[in-house]
Amino acid sequence: MKCGRGALVVLEGVDRAGKTTQCKELVRELQRSGRAAEMMRFPDRTTMIGQLISSYLEKKSDLEDHTVHLLFSANRWELVPEMKQKLEKGISLVVDRYAFSGVAFTSAKPGFGLEWCKSPDVGLPKPDLVMFLQLPPSVAAARGEFGTERYETSVFQQAVQSKFDQLMEDPTVNWQVIDAARSVEEVHKDIKQFAMNTINAVEKQPIGDLWK
Ligand SMILES: Nc1ncnc2c1ncn2[C@@H]1O[C@H](COP(=O)(O)OP(=O)(O)OP(=O)(O)O)[C@@H](O)[C@H]1O
Ligand SMILES: [Mg+2]
Repeated sequence: MKCGRGALVVLEGVDRAGKTTQCKELVRELQRSGRAAEMMRFPDRTTMIGQLISSYLEKKSDLEDHTVHLLFSANRWELVPEMKQKLEKGISLVVDRYAFSGVAFTSAKPGFGLEWCKSPDVGLPKPDLVMFLQLPPSVAAARGEFGTERYETSVFQQAVQSKFDQLMEDPTVNWQVIDAARSVEEVHKDIKQFAMNTINAVEKQPIGDLWK
């Protein structure tokens, strides 16, 4: 019987890198192998704060840039009690985007420094593993047109990628860069291996605090 905590595993990456596809595959695989695992995604559009964010992303409403940044962060914080409860019960969480996306997207806007953008997320449950799905823009383009939501332009996505590059220089976060230009199955194999190793390694460790 396992009595350790679950692992907090995050998938990040630019638009269409395959985050959602791979999160679902990973949860399915973990469950198939008898491990407790659940998927979460940010923003979680189902909460009241999430509905404000959703309306903003769909361009149905406008919000001031600092305000929307803080709402994205609040949307993560409001889920923290549930996340901690699950992790402590031994459920591993596979999370589709987290604070790194929050920081990369806002800091890609003019006038926003990385440190200011990080500050509201300082102290969130620290991911045990962050897998960054790396995809060249040309391959991403071949996966279909951009949608109609806010931020879905190639110029903005390139600015976001360079902010991710800066965040990945931080050695206090356990980053793994994954080549996402391969088939779904090949990418999944790598992701599964990194996730399994992490789940086994952190069972007896306390949950850390992000950027603290
Ligand atoms: N390895 C892959 N090879 C080819 N196509 C893929 C691969 N992984 C995902 N796709 C396809 O690319 C598209 C984007 O995948 P997915 O929605 O998982 O990406 P995402 O990173 O979650 O995107 P977004 O940031 O927009 O939410 C989908 O049509 C998906 O079927
Ligand atoms: Mg997605």
